[in-house]
Amino acid sequence: MIQFEAVHKRFPNGTTAVHDLTIDMPEGGVTVFVGSSGCGKTTSLRMINRMVDPTSGTIRVGGRDVLEQDAAELRRSIGYVIQQSGLFPHRTVLDNIATVPLLLGWGRKKARATAGELLERVGLSAEMGKRYPHQLSGGQQQRVGVARALAADPPVLLMDEPFGAVDPVVRAQLQDELVRLQKELNKTIVFVTHDIDEAVRLGDRIAVFREGGHLVQCDTPAELLARPVNDFVADFLGAERGLKLLSLTALADVPQGPVPQGGRWELVLDDARRPLRWQDRDSEASAPVRPLRDTDSLLSALNESVASPAGLAVRVDAQGVLSGVTSRDDIHERSGAAHARALTGTPTPGSAVPAQESADPKERDSA
Ligand SMILES: Nc1ncnc2c1ncn2[C@@H]1O[C@H](COP(=O)(O)OP(=O)(O)O)[C@@H](O)[C@H]1O
Ligand SMILES: [Mg+2]
Repeated sequence: MIQFEAVHKRFPNGTTAVHDLTIDMPEGGVTVFVGSSGCGKTTSLRMINRMVDPTSGTIRVGGRDVLEQDAAELRRSIGYVIQQSGLFPHRTVLDNIATVPLLLGWGRKKARATAGELLERVGLSAEMGKRYPHQLSGGQQQRVGVARALAADPPVLLMDEPFGAVDPVVRAQLQDELVRLQKELNKTIVFVTHDIDEAVRLGDRIAVFREGGHLVQCDTPAELLARPVNDFVADFLGAERGLKLLSLTALADVPQGPVPQGGRWELVLDDARRPLRWQDRDSEASAPVRPLRDTDSLLSALNESVASPAGLAVRVDAQGVLSGVTSRDDIHERSGAAHARALTGTPTPGSAVPAQESADPKERDSA
């Protein structure tokens, strides 16, 4: 969908911002550019919609060389979201969202109707449409920025640290929203961040950059975490690389068995065999249970088995009906394998890196 072929960008002042960048960004997927400040992420992004033109090399969007297209037209056909939302302060939220449709000559009525639908789609009430940007919180402004970028239904969305200026809680909400939206919309998204956790959360593929505009590695999140190509990438992924990999590894193929009989803690079920709580047989004491599905992560299972008084993670099917339990030891054993693989980069027999389907954060969320 988007292809860079040997792309260089050297600014007139002599700075090489992007060095020999060759990368393919698949259609309908989220490619995340990640790396520390100044490593060429924004410049690479802006060459896609010709806000910056490359010094050499070729960039194709949908098979067409961007340099052969009219820059203004190209820009209108590609959604663009930036950190400070970039909203027009003297236009209402609705008019902000309708900007590109109006430029495209849709007519006021249709443009506003579309803007209204989008407002809802990004989780804002219709009432917000009448407000001005300064009457919204930072997180709400970013939602409007996303709605505006989506207004003309462009196939490609460029996002440059769009959630960088909001607090961590709101940021997590916006990330979840984007994952949810993308499941419906299937846009080709290029997302820039310096936050590796955000990259792992959102990316179908992650491209790690280093200073001088060098692409160091581009892989699925699971591959990247399991097999960083060098120390630079490993350092960038951080000391919690193993944990992150556990958060991406699905529980599905970890064995489960029946609830052990005769223990102190009894698993109480409802009439439909859905788990309700752990009950102490000798007292009134009980403990909550948070059942897990196959698509949940090893990390969740580990947490759950630690929280459970019986040391067991309780597992259910898609209907929430009990399917079995997994012991802390079984989870440890499997996590150890995943962790060892992450640390050494060597595959462990019987615990292949999960298929992209199960490692995909969107899949986990839909569970
Ligand atoms: N218009 C410009 N003129 C000169 N140098 C620039 C310009 N834009 C960016 N740079 C330089 O190019 C490098 C890459 O910048 P940028 O792509 O913004 O990095 P990032 O988005 O990864 O922080 C930096 O060294 C930056 O200072
Ligand atoms: Mg930048």
